[in-house]
Amino acid sequence: MAEPFGDARDWFLQKRFGMFVHWGIYAIPGWQEQHQWRGRVPADEYITLKNQWNPVHYNPEAWLDLAEEAGMQYLVITTKHHDGFCLWDTQQTDFNTMNTPCGKDLIRPLADACHARNFPLGFYYSIADWHHPNCPNQGRHHELPGPKPGDDPDLMKYLEFLKAQVRELCTEYGQLHAFWWDMNVDQHVDPSINAMIRELQPTAVINNRGFDDGDFGTPERDYEQGIEEQRDFDRLTEACQSVGMESWGYRTNEDYYTDRHLMRSIDRYLARNANYLLNVGPKPDGSFPDEAAGILRRIGKWYHAVREALENVVPASNLTQNKDILLTRKDNTLYVHLVNDPRTHAVKLDPIHIAPNKATLLNTGEPVEFAVELVPSNHIEHKPYLRLRNLPVNDQINTVLVIKLEFDLPL
Ligand code: GLC
Repeated sequence: MAEPFGDARDWFLQKRFGMFVHWGIYAIPGWQEQHQWRGRVPADEYITLKNQWNPVHYNPEAWLDLAEEAGMQYLVITTKHHDGFCLWDTQQTDFNTMNTPCGKDLIRPLADACHARNFPLGFYYSIADWHHPNCPNQGRHHELPGPKPGDDPDLMKYLEFLKAQVRELCTEYGQLHAFWWDMNVDQHVDPSINAMIRELQPTAVINNRGFDDGDFGTPERDYEQGIEEQRDFDRLTEACQSVGMESWGYRTNEDYYTDRHLMRSIDRYLARNANYLLNVGPKPDGSFPDEAAGILRRIGKWYHAVREALENVVPASNLTQNKDILLTRKDNTLYVHLVNDPRTHAVKLDPIHIAPNKATLLNTGEPVEFAVELVPSNHIEHKPYLRLRNLPVNDQINTVLVIKLEFDLPL
């Protein structure tokens, strides 16, 4: 169970579903955000993309409207990804949005829009940098094969640059709620950098991919084997996932996940007290791809219908032996989450053997049949237990069904 911080970071335990945004010049040709490295694009060729950077349809209000429609409650944006291109008016490098046809700081209007709505904002920052001359690229994972002509690899100098950028991000854009590091390839340890963020931005939670362990772990996509089955996490956790399987940035011909896969994934983490950051990559013009916006809208319909089962609840899966479901609880109410494909139209809740007063399918608002009785498949214990029946499993297939059970007493 996640212990509260007991300070300004506690917002992170209440607002659990966030929007992740990966946006940069890689979106112009519709490349995966790491294509410069994976596709061996020469650096001098890659940087010319900035000459086409002009997101004329960028509208942070529209982003936040869609985030709210999806049920999301905070937003984290890539201020600088591995390619080194900066979305803000940084004084530390020219490789930024000011020196493009766009000519504007793109973080400022987003920060202003978030602050006006009290919508928590976080900054993603890649420690790997394929542009800065001091960043020691040595051909390790997520690194260019070696220094470019004119580079002067020097980790300490690079860290001075990085700290100056972090200071800008933590002082120029008002209140921050998260600082999201990525790709500390060097595995360099330096707690003073997070200490600076904490001093400047006390509401900001910090993830574990920076220069120390930070506040929370960040399992990514479905890579961490077994984590989906784990019932508990040993630390605060925020899973991250993109709407497309191959890319975080906008990519042409992307392979989008099914709604059901994403809903299950979201439900699996939120019902276990973790946060979830679902990513979308805006197009180079600043608008969201139709497919991604459609996914977020459909997730939002589901999320808003079931949200009471996911927010301000405690995990309660230990109350049942049924491994196909997850349970959450609030006072006398128990929520049953069908996170796996139902094999029948019934759900067994053994060993719970008390009938609720009321059972409701949150997805539709319809009542759910229930009974406490002995069923033949319970051949070990021969005891009656609670069963939900006749769920609309053949009609409601592209969703996660969530049933609300109201009892007289807490279970
Ligand atoms: C990985 C990728 C990166 C992405 C990040 C999001 O670390 O390298 O492209 O930004 O995951 O979690």
